[in-house]
Amino acid sequence: HKHIDHATPEKVEAAIAAGDTHAVIPDYEGYDAYAAQGGYATLTDLRESGDWEEVQERVLSSGLRGLGGAGFPSGKKWGFVRGNPGPRYLAVNGDEGEPGTFKDRYYLERTPHLFLEGMLIAAWAVEADRIYLYMRDEYPAVLEILAREIAALEDAGVVSPGYIDLRRGAGAYICGEESAMIESIEGKRGIPRHRPPYVAQVGIFGRPTLVHNVETLHWVARVCREGPQILSSVEKNGRTGLRSYSVSGRVATPGMYQLPAGSTITDIIAAAGGMAEGHVFKAYQPGGPSSGLLPASMHDIPMDFDTLQPHGSFIGSAAVVVLSEHDSARAAALNMLRFFEDESCGQCTPCRVGCEKAVKLMQADRWDQPLLEELSQAMVDASICGLGQAAPNPIRLTMKHFPDEI
Ligand code: NAI
Ligand code: SF4
Repeated sequence: HKHIDHATPEKVEAAIAAGDTHAVIPDYEGYDAYAAQGGYATLTDLRESGDWEEVQERVLSSGLRGLGGAGFPSGKKWGFVRGNPGPRYLAVNGDEGEPGTFKDRYYLERTPHLFLEGMLIAAWAVEADRIYLYMRDEYPAVLEILAREIAALEDAGVVSPGYIDLRRGAGAYICGEESAMIESIEGKRGIPRHRPPYVAQVGIFGRPTLVHNVETLHWVARVCREGPQILSSVEKNGRTGLRSYSVSGRVATPGMYQLPAGSTITDIIAAAGGMAEGHVFKAYQPGGPSSGLLPASMHDIPMDFDTLQPHGSFIGSAAVVVLSEHDSARAAALNMLRFFEDESCGQCTPCRVGCEKAVKLMQADRWDQPLLEELSQAMVDASICGLGQAAPNPIRLTMKHFPDEI
């Protein structure tokens, strides 16, 4: 781990000068442009005369759910955190580490102030004494944009200096798990805590903490400004709302696609320009490696929260990777388990030893399926956090859907 640092513009400049980052700053909407179009008017109105419960109701009625991947109703969290006495904190999870996910980066590199205004609205709603903004160090351009724009907010008097504390992650996937992120913010090694207590009760430095993902806060600003119907009026295949799918793999035009939440993989591939030339659709990862692989025959499931669970998978942060007949499902599953083996924090045995053992078993010519199933169950039952609990998904789904390969 590198030490945790404040990413001030000076330090980012120094890092660029030292050549240890490759920040290319895209053309984004800065403070002046955002404010000129009515940006921060909603926040100002709320701070002057807003009723947080009315705003909570608006967020709840939009159907907004946590877009880090867990899909917990966003407005509900505000009530949990407010239910505990202050001081309270807001922690923003910008540690977008799920392989294949880049939607937060997409929004931050284009419209950072929608996110920043949403963040300040959420902080207002729970009366947060301070905001800890935890951003992954692998996004140097985002770090520079945020450092500049937070300084602009301070200069404009929207926030007092130091109210937003920008922290850099150090490349550990597990620090995206909210309690590990909090440990890291506190200056300790990032390992998940047991829960309960939830972070809404005992978070940063033992205080009640509201944790939201970057994209969730982007939508908080939009819902407050444009109304809950921007999400609640979008319907498809019986599902409501919009999803930001990060699409990569064997498609013609990889990228971020904002589509109705009821979209199927067929819709998503079509939005990404169809399959890449010379490739036939074979399988897909719906939402990061922990969601495993589904076969092309399961092409008509809406890719939303709750809809993939009956099939042993989930949408998570909507990191969609498309595989073709040129790819091996077995090799992809092994790659996923190698990732978990590398990224396991090692604090509990079922995950630390389980991932390592699974990788060994998956390297054999023929998979020992009963043993892999027994191992998977032990990991699901006894791991402390989501990493170890979900790591067996690629194993199980590959055994179920791609038996010829193993
Ligand atoms: P979770 O469902 O356990 O918790 C979700 C949120 O709800 C947390 O903030 C938790 O504190 C809160 N919560 C849940 N029950 C609560 C209660 N009774 N009282 C108060 N608060 C409560 O899910 P978890 O483990 O936080 O996240 C798992 C997801 O993270 C997965 O779906 C995965 O897709 C996603 N993920 C996303 C990554 C990314 O880069 N975006 C990376 C890795 C995983
Ligand atoms: Fe660490 Fe894995 Fe245990 Fe999570 S499940 S606490 S990553 S060892």
